[in-house]
Amino acid sequence: MTPENPIEQARQWIAAAKRVAALTGAGISAESGIPTFRSAGGLWRNFRAEDLATPRAFARDPKTVWEWYDWRRGLIAKAKPNLGHFALAQLEQRLGDRFTLITQNVDGLHNRAGSQRVLKLHGDIWWTMCIACREVRSDFRVPLPELPPRCGACGGMLRPGVVWFGEPLPGATWEQAEEAVRQCELLIVAGTSSIVYPAASLAPLARSHGARVMEINTEETPLSGTADLCLRGPSGEILPQIIES
Ligand code: OAD
Repeated sequence: MTPENPIEQARQWIAAAKRVAALTGAGISAESGIPTFRSAGGLWRNFRAEDLATPRAFARDPKTVWEWYDWRRGLIAKAKPNLGHFALAQLEQRLGDRFTLITQNVDGLHNRAGSQRVLKLHGDIWWTMCIACREVRSDFRVPLPELPPRCGACGGMLRPGVVWFGEPLPGATWEQAEEAVRQCELLIVAGTSSIVYPAASLAPLARSHGARVMEINTEETPLSGTADLCLRGPSGEILPQIIES
């Protein structure tokens, strides 16, 4: 059932909820000019994300995988957070620790919009990790001078500090995300295709604990049928409308 005024409905639910969680995906950064993974513009040299974001792809051809990340790092470095990112930062300011932001994005735009506490399920594109000594560092250089880059400490090959298909999510971060979702009364799911697990299991988890689930997406997704409210449109337009006080 679609309420007469879904924006007003969303505003009321946000105002009434003691605890709110939000899960974001690539769609929230689309209006910042960063292509989503499953849109035509998301293809790079005709590779799909699933062809490149895997340990097997990296083992076979680390240079090509790094070239893809270097391309994405270049796009992200030029991008600015949009009104959707800012609205979620504002919600955190208003609710404090009654709000938890969980993202699948590795672009860091939530932080740049002012969000202080961001649970990054898939890591961060500005982190590198040495496959030999496991040291994790931040590296903001664009483009990187050498691909694949080498570890300053031991000379080993670096990999992007992100989670690839088939790899476990960072355990503590995932536990915090699950806990926030179990505790919340409202989960806002914005700009994700809701097909990549385990992130996509957070919405059913919220519902099984009695929370309402609100989806914000330009298109229908596998979540749409079970969400309590679907707001169709760009998150950069909808989030400010439902969050502004
Ligand atoms: P996808 O590219 O799969 O989905 C982006 C979603 O955003 C789609 O459902 C679009 O309809 C929607 N969308 C596009 N523009 C939008 C806008 N302006 N406002 C609102 N919604 C919009 O991206 P994710 O769901 O984030 O993982 O993908 C999940 C994971 O798969 C990623 O974290 C990445 C990827 O491959 C790994 O690399 C491990």
